[in-house]
Amino acid sequence: MPLLSLALSLLTAQMPTAPAAIEAGRQVYMGSCSGCHGATGEGSQGPSLLSGRAARLPDNTLFNSIRNGLPGTSMPNFDLPAEKVWQIAAFVRSLTAPAAAASLPGDANRGRALFFGEAKCSGCHRILGEGGALGPDLSNAGAERTVHQIRESLVKPSARIASGFRPATATTAQGTVVAGVAKNYNNYSVQILDRTGKLHILPRAELKQFEVRDGSLMPPVADTAALTDLIAFLARQTIRPYTAEAQ
Ligand code: HEC
Ligand code: HEC
Repeated sequence: MPLLSLALSLLTAQMPTAPAAIEAGRQVYMGSCSGCHGATGEGSQGPSLLSGRAARLPDNTLFNSIRNGLPGTSMPNFDLPAEKVWQIAAFVRSLTAPAAAASLPGDANRGRALFFGEAKCSGCHRILGEGGALGPDLSNAGAERTVHQIRESLVKPSARIASGFRPATATTAQGTVVAGVAKNYNNYSVQILDRTGKLHILPRAELKQFEVRDGSLMPPVADTAALTDLIAFLARQTIRPYTAEAQ
């Protein structure tokens, strides 16, 4: 390898962080990898890149697995310039990075206005003590969730239900109906949090009917512009200031 290009490849031998590089990686990923690993890394013919071994690979191993493939498996090699391979690696990393680390399109201020206003999110969700309690507290959403997870929660709320938030209904012996989310239930008692934030603790033996359902109480967000702004806003919600080094 000529000295100059060796020096250059050493200089670029690290994970890029610029949104443009990650976007370039995303484009190659969609064309060359998504068929086996899924559009968001969830896996299909190939393994998930969101958990297990693939999510914990050191940067250099990730780079080498993409460039050289994994002999003896169906993971092919991608004989591309190092810079391209790093872009793909950076996109793969972004699939598991906390949302707070992402540079996102969308207007976070407008997202905040929607959250506490027109979109009525704060009727069910609390951020730093402000809002309702029927849904999960979102004060630290940007540190605890990836962009992909936040997007999925908004577009398909029922795809994954946060534990302690499944919809439930109980009818007492007197015929009173209590509806909300099931916080806890066993053979003896049932705890339901209703929409006003009141926790009902009901002895199971005294209930005429009790049902916990799949599916979310949360209505999906359909408007694309609102979605982009809400994601930008939620990604910035961290209890402590976010720095990549602290992760
Ligand atoms: C034809 C299917 C296929 C394609 C295309 C494919 N992969 Fe894979 N990939 C696999 C399989 C299968 C494995 C698991 C191999 C094993 O460990 O058994 C894997 C493993 C991986 C791993 C884990 C590597 C490790 O060291 O454990 C990463 C990261 C990965 N693939 C990324 C990619 C990227 C990025 C692309 C596109 C540039 C891609 N793959 C294209 C099938 C594929
Ligand atoms: C009627 C109550 C209700 C409203 C209104 C509502 N949500 Fe939710 N939300 C929930 C419940 C209940 C869950 C937990 C069940 C689930 O995962 O879908 C949830 C889950 C979520 C999650 C996933 C949380 C996690 O821990 O993974 C996010 C993010 C979210 N909501 C954001 C929003 C946003 C943004 C809005 C406004 C557009 C909104 N919600 C409106 C009730 C609501």
